[in-house]
Amino acid sequence: MDTMRWEDDALVLLDQTKLPAVVEYISCRDCDSVAGAIRSLQVRGAPAIGAAAAYGLVLGVRQAQPENRTEFLAAAEETARFLAATRPTAVNLAWALNRLLTRLRASDAADPQELTALLLAEAHAICGEDVAANKRMGNFGRELVPPGARILTHCNAGALATAGYGTALGVIRAAQEAGKHVSVYADETRPLLQGARLTAWEMVQEGIPVTVITDNMAGYLMARGMVDLVIVGADRIAANGDVANKIGTYGVAVLAKEHGLPFYVAAPVSTIDLSLDSGADIPIEERAPEEVTHLAGRPVAAPGVRVWNPAFDVTPARLVTAIITDRGVARPPYRESLKRL
Ligand code: MRU
Repeated sequence: MDTMRWEDDALVLLDQTKLPAVVEYISCRDCDSVAGAIRSLQVRGAPAIGAAAAYGLVLGVRQAQPENRTEFLAAAEETARFLAATRPTAVNLAWALNRLLTRLRASDAADPQELTALLLAEAHAICGEDVAANKRMGNFGRELVPPGARILTHCNAGALATAGYGTALGVIRAAQEAGKHVSVYADETRPLLQGARLTAWEMVQEGIPVTVITDNMAGYLMARGMVDLVIVGADRIAANGDVANKIGTYGVAVLAKEHGLPFYVAAPVSTIDLSLDSGADIPIEERAPEEVTHLAGRPVAAPGVRVWNPAFDVTPARLVTAIITDRGVARPPYRESLKRL
């Protein structure tokens, strides 16, 4: 099932807010609807929002109807700023938009139609390269997975979170394809249940045995010796190897350390932000209180209660056993190993 595709001059997205109950695609014909889909998590996951934003840029520039190269570049820069502001934590968003702008500036084309075609080709390239990168990551990562491994993951870093195949779930897929007979524990991932709704759905579709647990069960699961390793995705990795990922990841990493379990992060190099010295510099998105006070639209907390709802946390590099990328596996010290990649 496609996470996204370009069809009839529109970006068609699988609406992830409706999964797993309803499989429905939405069609985005303008930049505002792409921005809305990113904000509302109809499309989510670091590489997927980067790819969606790239198509959003094509739609935004087309709407502006620029008549020459100067107008085209101005419209592209303004649209990129608008799209980059939709979600602050995943660096893949800014990375993809910058890649399109760089491609534009490097071309000497003057005709707006030619420039649009160039942007669209770059957006398609981002998608194609993302799937290929995930498969390479899978090949590197599966070497770290012992036969019969019982793997805990948090949130959804699967095909849905990327242009296809997935990062953390890509490693799991690759291990399974290599005949390792793995099984998965999926943290449900409060508040928005990406684990229960999306990871479990992907694993069931793939025929990989999956067990959903609530987030607060992970410690006991490890204490009982029921899990062999943890693999998660990432939204941004700082130069020192600190990892921002879905809220709750940090707690899982602390638990893994306490129980002597490997804690792996799988992410393409486009998720690494060498411009940030440490995780303390990563902007963390805070989302609406209703995501915590309500479950499936129904209130579960007292009206008027105060809420703190950070969407991500930062796992310090010292808790990360290795970072699996599309260019190889980085080990501590990360300042050197990430720079080399
Ligand atoms: O808020 P979300 O659902 O976009 O958060 C997604 C995650 O935290 C993923 O683990 C991360 O983006 C990696 S996706 C390959």
